[in-house]
Amino acid sequence: MNCRAELEKKFSGRLRVDPQFDRQIVSYQGNKNLPGLRWMKYKEGFSKALVERFIKEKSPSDLLDPFSGLGTAPLVASGQGVNATGIEIMPVGVLAATGIAHAANGLDKEEFHAVGMDLLRRVSRRKKAGSSYRFPHVGITEKAFPEKTEKDIAKAREFIDQVDDSPMHDMLNLACMSILESVSFTRKDGQYLRWDYRSGRALRSHVDLGEVQDFADALENRLRETEDNIDEVKNAFGSRYPRFLSGSCLELLRGLPDESVDLVVTSPPYANRYDYTRTYALELAWLGLDKAGFSDLRQKMLTATVENKSKLEWLDSLYADGLDNARAMYDRQGALNEIIGILNENRENLSNQNIIRLIEGYFFEMAVVVSEMSRILRPGGGVIMVNDNVQYHGEEIPVDFILSDFAEKSGMVCRNIRALPRGKGNSSQQMAIYGRREIRKCVYEWVKE
Ligand SMILES: C[S@@+](CC[C@H](N)C(=O)[O-])C[C@H]1O[C@@H](n2cnc3c(N)ncnc32)[C@H](O)[C@@H]1O
Repeated sequence: MNCRAELEKKFSGRLRVDPQFDRQIVSYQGNKNLPGLRWMKYKEGFSKALVERFIKEKSPSDLLDPFSGLGTAPLVASGQGVNATGIEIMPVGVLAATGIAHAANGLDKEEFHAVGMDLLRRVSRRKKAGSSYRFPHVGITEKAFPEKTEKDIAKAREFIDQVDDSPMHDMLNLACMSILESVSFTRKDGQYLRWDYRSGRALRSHVDLGEVQDFADALENRLRETEDNIDEVKNAFGSRYPRFLSGSCLELLRGLPDESVDLVVTSPPYANRYDYTRTYALELAWLGLDKAGFSDLRQKMLTATVENKSKLEWLDSLYADGLDNARAMYDRQGALNEIIGILNENRENLSNQNIIRLIEGYFFEMAVVVSEMSRILRPGGGVIMVNDNVQYHGEEIPVDFILSDFAEKSGMVCRNIRALPRGKGNSSQQMAIYGRREIRKCVYEWVKE
């Protein structure tokens, strides 16, 4: 029997379609109308309901999410009195999560109102920004805003930079960041930004994205919504401040003590070439990332794009002997080796040859993360992970089974793998060649016994 069939045999008995897990619960859709979580549209998030369900079932005292995005898991947990830590590398997620935590834990509503009004007055005043600040565009954001909006953004930046109070600074910074898409000639669309013809960029087709909001109007709406939501946010997420660590979990997990967490609820990036730095280019530029900053962030993120280079040397220097378990799991994962072998044989036919490096990097880095999670878990503790399988060259890569195998090799037991009733379609490129296929989207549950 080949290794993939063996792996399938090992885990298929624990795989079941569970109608309770639908797209609403495993995605951001469920949060779209929730105070706080709706302030920043972070489509890659999962729902508050998913986290609540597992907190209720497991009653943890300490929760961790090493890929915390908007902070959904730590925020929901800390709202219920659980000690919670989130690790996130995207400054966009960290700022949004921190902002929600401020609002939930002591932000003065009247003061926020007053400072917000001052900001709006400053943006609406005719007088230009005094400083030489210009929105720090990078290549992929050039021409994103109408000229008036560029000027309004400069006034807002100048005002915010003079706010000394750190939570207030974060709240205003978040409010402006969260409206950038709506005041721009771009819209986030799957893997890319779609551009409107009014941007003046050279475009292949005439695209009209509809209303481009005025900056002051959009900001006023967002500030009012934030203020209106504060009490509900306090109710939902107030109780204790979660701890947000900003940076790569590949590095930061190393600093967390052994057996210090009961529950991990997480969703890593999928191995699907999705580039967060492209989707959130406007927001990252607003937060001050320059060209080098973009490239540095992309390289430090968990490998999931064809641009990612190997992190082996870096991980070796960080972990030294601590990598032995991850390396052994990765090297001995027969099904993964078979898949990489098939991709190598068909290298010439891949839409991009770096897909092989992507798969190698993704699984090696996830082996490190899984091994670290197991070390940090208390006996009896568990991991809930949302992830998608992926398909390259017509081969579905069973990410769920491979990662569950890593979990079992790290001292955990895979209890079950719940598949959504409807998986994800393959990419249009692959569909043209291999026909439409559904690719599993699952929630895995591992327990450290
Ligand atoms: C699928 S999203 C998780 C979203 C989160 N569950 C939420 O509700 O917002 C994956 C997250 O992992 C982050 N990420 C990618 N590489 C990372 C790394 N090396 N360390 C920490 N976070 C990382 C991404 O920026 C992204 O926010």
